[in-house]
Amino acid sequence: MDVPTAIDGFKNIISSLNNENSLHFLNWVKENINDLIDKQIKVVDHNSDIVLESIREDIRTLLPLNGVTPTEKICTPSVGPNADCESTTTEHIDAFCFNDDDIDDLCDEGQMSRNYCTNCGSKSIQPLTFITHSASVKEIKYIFRHLLGDLRGKTVVDVGSRTGALLYGAYLMSEAPCIVGVEIDPTFCHIQQQMVTKYGMKDRIQVFQKDVQQCDSLIQQADVLILNNVFEFFMPLDVQKSIWNFLYQNVRKKGSYVVTVPSVQESLQSIELPLDLDSWLQEIPTGEVTARANLLLYGDPVTEDSELTQIHLYQVK
Ligand SMILES: C[S@@+](CC[C@H](N)C(=O)[O-])C[C@H]1O[C@@H](n2cnc3c(N)ncnc32)[C@H](O)[C@@H]1O
Repeated sequence: MDVPTAIDGFKNIISSLNNENSLHFLNWVKENINDLIDKQIKVVDHNSDIVLESIREDIRTLLPLNGVTPTEKICTPSVGPNADCESTTTEHIDAFCFNDDDIDDLCDEGQMSRNYCTNCGSKSIQPLTFITHSASVKEIKYIFRHLLGDLRGKTVVDVGSRTGALLYGAYLMSEAPCIVGVEIDPTFCHIQQQMVTKYGMKDRIQVFQKDVQQCDSLIQQADVLILNNVFEFFMPLDVQKSIWNFLYQNVRKKGSYVVTVPSVQESLQSIELPLDLDSWLQEIPTGEVTARANLLLYGDPVTEDSELTQIHLYQVK
């Protein structure tokens, strides 16, 4: 049944009752409407969780354990907080495909380790540095269920969409009619296309295999632009500078939102690019939203495990 038919059915129920009973019925609806809505939200959440879980399982079969494709070249950063990610002591693991419990399972099965031995044969061990290049399911839920408001009529663009994690999240957890992923790596674009087709998401998701610098008109139109640590591990420093200059020129739609990990300040500081942030973006405080989301997603409003505090929200001035 579609919504107009349901509305007609509702009106028919009222007109089939006598005046007094119809008033009783409408009062019952009024008193119970919030509970009914909450119940329905749980059903919708549950359905989107099931679809997301199925996509995660599919993508795990298409990628190596480290989530890096043969067609991409990871550039370990030489500056900034991740400059200590030496290849021998760093594990790349895709947080969309593998959550903490999955990593524990992999460690139990001997397929992965959380530590490395600094002195072979001794008990002197150090934790490995884990690097993810995708948003986790909790981060996806935070962005689309808590951080961003109603996305009806809005265009959402994920720059560097990789596995497509945020695109599927936007599809399942928002009503944004136009969701676009821009990804430079052909293998990841192919994976995203496969998922979008398999899960019937073509009506609202598009994926472009492009360098974001070729997408000026798309970037200018975006109502929400997502930049989840896009360039640090993938582009040399000089290219990162030119991309940030490109974004500075093209992300100018007044009132549009920019979601970033890490903060824009931190990204620009690492590559020593002094852009005039004050005239460009207004950071929106997220403390209250994050506390509420932490409570719902981790069961604790101030959990130390939360990755959510890394996510910054800005509005274009
Ligand atoms: C950290 S991942 C982001 C993943 C995804 N947005 C998410 O949150 O799950 C960064 C991705 O950006 C892509 N990328 C890097 N530079 C790019 C560029 N100039 N244009 C398009 N994609 C780019 C990389 O290939 C990589 O897959």
